[in-house]
Amino acid sequence: IASFRAALAEAVAGHLQQHGSAPVVGLVPTMGALHSGHGVLIDAARAASDIVIASIFVNPLQFDDDADYQHYPRTPEQDVALLGEHGVDLIFLPEIAEMYPGDPHLPQVRVSAGELGHRWEGAARPGHFDGVVTVVAKLFNIMSPPAPGRLEAWFGAKDAEQVAIITRMTADLNLDVVIRTVSIVRDEHGLARSSRNQRLDEHDYASALALSAALFALEDDAAAGRPLGLADQVSELNATTGVDLDYLVVVDPGTLRELHPGGDLLDVHGVLQGPALALIAARVGPVRLIDNISLDPG
Ligand code: PAJ
Repeated sequence: IASFRAALAEAVAGHLQQHGSAPVVGLVPTMGALHSGHGVLIDAARAASDIVIASIFVNPLQFDDDADYQHYPRTPEQDVALLGEHGVDLIFLPEIAEMYPGDPHLPQVRVSAGELGHRWEGAARPGHFDGVVTVVAKLFNIMSPPAPGRLEAWFGAKDAEQVAIITRMTADLNLDVVIRTVSIVRDEHGLARSSRNQRLDEHDYASALALSAALFALEDDAAAGRPLGLADQVSELNATTGVDLDYLVVVDPGTLRELHPGGDLLDVHGVLQGPALALIAARVGPVRLIDNISLDPG
């Protein structure tokens, strides 16, 4: 960490000397097993920053299931090559003992995501978002550039709850970082790119397409000013072989609370009245998949 910070300080000083202006440092936190979704995130950071940092760290604190942690794909050589191709300036690839010194390798003092951390993915994976915000706060501190550099951190809309919670953390804890997001990257059939997709066989893959199909149907309903066909989509997913649906809900993007007909954002018929977010999670084959879509009233 100390040598990484020294390299960052050098990059900031170098930029200042060469350009006479304060650099924007763009940080892209990842857990590796990089795919084209990560690539798009890195390209966006590259285009908007002077110095780009990518971190790769499979954070044990955010896995509620040890088997999922053990099976999480790890492809460091390929990752480093991809980051090089995308023009990343600095790669932070810490050992677990460096991030969490001591025995066991766990911090005593942590960040809590509060109530926001108990909704949806948070309910399904207890402690997950506390683990995310703890490691993300550490990364923000490790990467905080020496003045006059400014830090911006990049996250994908694929993990919509994560973005909402990290945004809230920076406000609640007055963290000196700007949060920037990129849209979800999907494959040619609509499946949201994920490191976990590697573990889907041909049948699982076909089943998994039902998730994004349900989201697209809700997007169409919202844009056409029709009542959201949420119940129909849920029945369809429940009838899809190979899909074990956990939730499909429409929520307020800031609070992540479910919307109900007759409330602020849905009229009594279920027609959307303002921007919302549809969230979905399901078990497909050996993995849990999540996806979401922004809903805008027509
Ligand atoms: P990871 O799952 O590796 O994702 C790293 C970043 O890539 C996240 O911001 C995620 O939203 C984004 N991403 C992944 N797939 C995407 C897709 N298909 N389209 C757009 N963006 C995508 O998210 C994490 O790691 C961790 O929780 C982390 C923030 C690194 C903390 O440990």
